[in-house]
Amino acid sequence: MNNRPASFIKNRIIENIRPWESIRHAFFHDDTVAPVTLGDYLAYSGIVSAVLLVFQIVTGLLLLFYYSPHPMKAFESVVFIQNEAPNGFLFVTLHAINAKLIVLMLFIHMFRIMYVSAHRGPRSHQWYTGSALLTLMLITGFSGYLLPWSQQSFWACVIGTEAMRTIPLIGDGVAWLLKGGKEVSGTTLAIFYGFHVILLPISIVILIWFHLKRVWETGVSAPPDMIARIEKESCIGCGLCERICPFEAIAMDTPYGKKKACVDQNQCNGCRACLGKCPTASIGLFSGETPMKREPLFPHGVLNRAVASLVTLIILFAAVFFFHGLLMETRTPADPLVTPDRIKPDWYFMGPYQLLKVMPSEFMGLLTLAAVFLLMVFLPKLDRSGPRSPEKRPVYIFLVKTAILSFIFFTLWGFIS
Ligand code: HEM
Repeated sequence: MNNRPASFIKNRIIENIRPWESIRHAFFHDDTVAPVTLGDYLAYSGIVSAVLLVFQIVTGLLLLFYYSPHPMKAFESVVFIQNEAPNGFLFVTLHAINAKLIVLMLFIHMFRIMYVSAHRGPRSHQWYTGSALLTLMLITGFSGYLLPWSQQSFWACVIGTEAMRTIPLIGDGVAWLLKGGKEVSGTTLAIFYGFHVILLPISIVILIWFHLKRVWETGVSAPPDMIARIEKESCIGCGLCERICPFEAIAMDTPYGKKKACVDQNQCNGCRACLGKCPTASIGLFSGETPMKREPLFPHGVLNRAVASLVTLIILFAAVFFFHGLLMETRTPADPLVTPDRIKPDWYFMGPYQLLKVMPSEFMGLLTLAAVFLLMVFLPKLDRSGPRSPEKRPVYIFLVKTAILSFIFFTLWGFIS
């Protein structure tokens, strides 16, 4: 009997949504996780983003009870939540400030990965799903910004959707589709609301599943100075490691008349793809003469991640209680007939917005942003070989630092100009 559909469902679908074996392995076996100390807080930015996202979804669901996505009622419903609904002020402020913090965490997560070149080889999959996640998170932020229907949010939406019109050929169509017509109106609010509360959150949760599933399968990256070393005595020269290595860093040699695997120190990225394949466990990771310390995720890894998440949540609540005046703009109802003196997007769009303002034309600005975006998404294709260690690749590290500093520079410039 032809059982292809059954095996397709088992291999492609069930195995994809049921990575229990890799989770169990990551938690309890000693060959998956390179321990990271709590001092290296930035290394936990991925898991901290996930925890913040849970908070964001919970507070968002609570706001849905009272929010009304209608241009005549949206602003008042937010004011009502803030002033009269039970704990409404807390939930509105948490949702608004947490949205800013999540994006900050994601940028930290991304820049750290770029810095230690963890985007290469078997982890490029995480990079691609991560880029899609960041894009969806930014769109979620943009769509959510309109929902209070305040003067700032209305005009930020006008600017954002108008910028789309400069895209050649399809620009007008894209802007029309986003707005649901020629102008930003109640239809736009309904479209943004649908995206913000249903389509985008569901897509984000599904993508996170694939992102984390792959993290469980590959394990988190080893420190960048770790390199594979093969014990010659026990190596049987089967060649499995040579075939699996994504960096072509392993070659077979015959040093004593017997076939043995050898590692090219300048190509090995310490990705660990070969470790699990070696039938005689002859491969280990070393930094110089020091072997990599290994530890199961449970208990220290889990505890460290919990502490990092807790510290971030304390910072979030401190911001909500003590700095909400500074972090949240004063809101007045949207008035489509009066353009405000200064239109301010959310902080993470401030840099791109400033760049658009200072470029000779909006089209050139959009072209530059698109180029930066494509460079980021396809980083694993552009940078895929050579050593990983930051000390051994000064030009790359200079470029990463320039990218980070330019982002900070344009963002600050946007705030003060
Ligand atoms: C909601 C968004 C995201 C969540 C919840 C998330 C979560 C995580 C988690 C929990 C890890 C495991 C390691 C760690 O704790 O840091 C991880 C690893 C990774 N993420 Fe993300 N991530 C997100 C977005 C991104 C973005 C925007 C990128 C890059 C464009 C990215 C690329 C990667 C890569 C390459 C790894 C493997 C890193 C390594 O092994 O050292 N992720 N992510």
